[in-house]
Amino acid sequence: MKMTKEEKYRYIEQARPDELEKLQKQIERCAWRQNYHIQPQTGLLNDPNGFSYYNGIYHLFYQWFPFGPEHGMKYWFHTVSKDLCTWENVGIGIKPGDSYDSHGVYSGSAIVKDEKLYLMYTGNTRDENWVRHPFQCMAYMNESGVIQKLTNPVISTVPNGYTDHFRDPKVWKKDDTYFCIIGAQRKNKTGCAVLYKSSDLMNWEFQGELETTLPSNFGYMWECPDYFELEEHGILLFSPQGLEAEGEKYQNIYQSGYLVGEPLDLETRKFCHDAFHELDRGFDFYAQHTTLSEDGRRLLIGWMGLPDLAYPTDQNGWAHCLTIPRQLEIREGKLIQQPISELMKLRKNERQARFTLENERKKVKEFSGLSYELIYEIENIQARYIGIEFRAKDQEKTVFFYDSIKKELVLDRSLSGKSLEAENGNIRRCSFSASKLKIQLFVDVSSVEIFINDGEEVFTSRIFPSPHSKEVCFFTENGSATFQAVQWSYE
Ligand code: FRU
Repeated sequence: MKMTKEEKYRYIEQARPDELEKLQKQIERCAWRQNYHIQPQTGLLNDPNGFSYYNGIYHLFYQWFPFGPEHGMKYWFHTVSKDLCTWENVGIGIKPGDSYDSHGVYSGSAIVKDEKLYLMYTGNTRDENWVRHPFQCMAYMNESGVIQKLTNPVISTVPNGYTDHFRDPKVWKKDDTYFCIIGAQRKNKTGCAVLYKSSDLMNWEFQGELETTLPSNFGYMWECPDYFELEEHGILLFSPQGLEAEGEKYQNIYQSGYLVGEPLDLETRKFCHDAFHELDRGFDFYAQHTTLSEDGRRLLIGWMGLPDLAYPTDQNGWAHCLTIPRQLEIREGKLIQQPISELMKLRKNERQARFTLENERKKVKEFSGLSYELIYEIENIQARYIGIEFRAKDQEKTVFFYDSIKKELVLDRSLSGKSLEAENGNIRRCSFSASKLKIQLFVDVSSVEIFINDGEEVFTSRIFPSPHSKEVCFFTENGSATFQAVQWSYE
């Protein structure tokens, strides 16, 4: 049952007696709770926020609505990790409720300054006519982990020429100057990102729009922009809303993608870049957010979900999770995402298999489970279709295969279990040409993340199979191929 506006915009202190305890009990009974992904204790999780390394530990916050699977009053929920593998819930990081964030602490980012971790976020407010007014706000965490909000927003107005869809500051430092980009919508209802500059994180000067070479109507709003430099390239990530589907591209309700270019000119704001590419080819990926690891790697985490869609766990009182952390690099002008090597710590109980298949299906008995990592390499590709069925039993299965004639990768979740909204479709494809394939799957109770040839493409998706669907089968059709496979349990 959908909540009313009044129910959605309650603060946590306004919970009805036992409301959260009851919700927690209901959620404990849900068969789709994840084993190793970050998920909300109750309610809805969306964007990752404030990912950072501070005071000897990783901090990661996320957008959280406590009372159910709805986009209502948002909090920043705080988690920490020493190793990026296991995360500990700290609790609420930033609470809404001041005049500048009365209707939600929206997305933002973190930066260390003077031994403190500064958290810059969008304060969402609604006036008596339910018109949105965004403020860019600041909080900071001290070394004892106490988080305090500043009394006033650091950016109180939306610059001329933009609507109230103005949010998600991502902050960084270059030499002695701080910069931040903010996702924006022009008055003519097209999306862009704008740049601000500051010498102290408190006083921000509007610089203007990032000048990309994309068409001026590239979506109606850009959410969650993120700019950084990697191997001497400038990289802009953002989540544009409103791109029309185009062949295999832009199949999800909203998109997430990247531009690789020369480093952004911070004076002229000119950004010379190549074409826009989607970061992910699966069904459920949005609002990605990056940081630098302690040893200087650029790490990305995304929301494994999308706005404005119903998910099967809604009926159990919760929704969504975050992706595993991925390490970014550039290979031949392309942004590559690889699972971070820290995850190897989770590997247990290794099993291996090697076989050649010719127009047949082979169930590998040793390879079963709900939560695992599985890598298979395919050589001597003579077949047209070469693939895997996993989280399978009887009629249920999730299928991923390579079509060597059409030269495409295909993820099919039409038989994955409980289905999602029909208009979202059941198949995602991606053109891909290779004579050898290495497929790495991270499967959890209700998700899969598939990395192809060490991160050249990624398919991220929720799936909602029965707990009995644990089997793994490999197959070829119209010819033969050799498989070398290994699986580790993550349970
Ligand atoms: C993206 C987003 C952000 C916003 C947040 C609110 O999913 O809409 O633009 O800050 O979620 O939860």
